[in-house]
Amino acid sequence: MVPVLQGKRVVLGVTGSIAVYKAVALASTLYQAGAIVEVIMTEAATRFVAPLSFQAIIHRPVHTSMWNLLAETEIGHVTLGRLADVLVVAPATADILTRLALGLADDFLTTTALACTAPMIIAPAMETHMYQHPAIQGHLGVLKSRGVYVVGPEAGHLASGATGLGRLAAEERIVDTIRLALGRGGNLARRGVVVTAGGTQEPLDPVRYIGNRSSGKMGVAVAEAARDHGAQVTLIYGAMAQPQTTGVRLVSAPTAQTMHAAVMEALPQAHALVMAAAVADFQPAIQADQKIKKKADTIGLTVELIRTPDILAAAGSCKPVGCVIVGFAAETENLIANARQKLEQKGADLIVANPVPATFGTDESDAAFVGKEGEAKSQGRISKVELAERIVNWIALELLQNEN
Ligand SMILES: Cc1cc2nc3c(=O)[nH]c(=O)nc-3n(C[C@H](O)[C@H](O)[C@H](O)COP(=O)(O)O)c2cc1C
Repeated sequence: MVPVLQGKRVVLGVTGSIAVYKAVALASTLYQAGAIVEVIMTEAATRFVAPLSFQAIIHRPVHTSMWNLLAETEIGHVTLGRLADVLVVAPATADILTRLALGLADDFLTTTALACTAPMIIAPAMETHMYQHPAIQGHLGVLKSRGVYVVGPEAGHLASGATGLGRLAAEERIVDTIRLALGRGGNLARRGVVVTAGGTQEPLDPVRYIGNRSSGKMGVAVAEAARDHGAQVTLIYGAMAQPQTTGVRLVSAPTAQTMHAAVMEALPQAHALVMAAAVADFQPAIQADQKIKKKADTIGLTVELIRTPDILAAAGSCKPVGCVIVGFAAETENLIANARQKLEQKGADLIVANPVPATFGTDESDAAFVGKEGEAKSQGRISKVELAERIVNWIALELLQNEN
């Protein structure tokens, strides 16, 4: 389940592109994430994939005709437009882009689009020259100027056999954009949230480093949850693959020093800082210019380590007025006591206490919230996505209380 999608009515417009088969998977993902998925297929789309494929996945009838009286009395195009929380057209043909830009109303999808006041997302898919044609670029410009979110297309292998721009955007990007659109006006709207994620790597020489096993999943989940609540998110990520997430400003900071600098730069604009990164406490005192060689008589090697900057404490000592700071404590023993000590010493507002190494790399956590007042609150064994949602809701409430 994805909290921002749960119970939301996502109207998925499917048009006559060869990429239609990918829309079946998209519908399934949205359904599994908890959305109520309504599918509208153009006449051309039904030539590629039968409505039954969607119907079996979303467990409701698929809309294919404006003239279907049964559907019209139950939930017509106007009603569907009004009920939609978001309208997504994926894949979007050159033809539908044109009809949407011109405001035509000649089938179920275009009439629904005109009757719809919810955010609209379109994901074009077509052959490169079609996409680059001035007519299509002009229509896309019109749609964007009306506030429509345009996702992709991406470059890659096309059905024609050619390689180029025109592939339907990856499903994750479309889903992320839906989440972004649904989150507009959420309880963190117009708030700046800075999140750190992943471990750091402290170089010994040009090829070796001292690191840790943090995957970055927790921080990425918090960044995405904050975005889903309408926040403007900066995700400062450590030594990990670049997060594939949409609607989040990304800053790479692979070492404790660079992460310290990035946090300090972002902090003045932040309403909340969530330090989910596993930052190294120590770094090698000397970073060798060349690869350290072993010699025939080398038995052991001693590496001198020095302290890295304490980013949480530094942020706590100069946080903007009203800014909320959430830290993480990853401990192998005395979890709650260490978390409480961290809370008091570092000027944080909340510590999320995590037993490690059990939570490294997993999709689940077993954390407790240690706040300024009261006992530690165990969150139980829940997914990191759910934990991120709880952290973000805690922040939203705290910010509200700080204002009053
Ligand atoms: C095999 C085949 C593949 C097609 N793929 C695309 C495509 O990827 N993108 C596109 O814009 N049009 C594509 N078309 C053309 C559209 O199907 C055509 O313009 C149709 O009128 C679109 O109608 P619709 O926008 O109402 O779905 C394809 C046509 C065929 C026969």
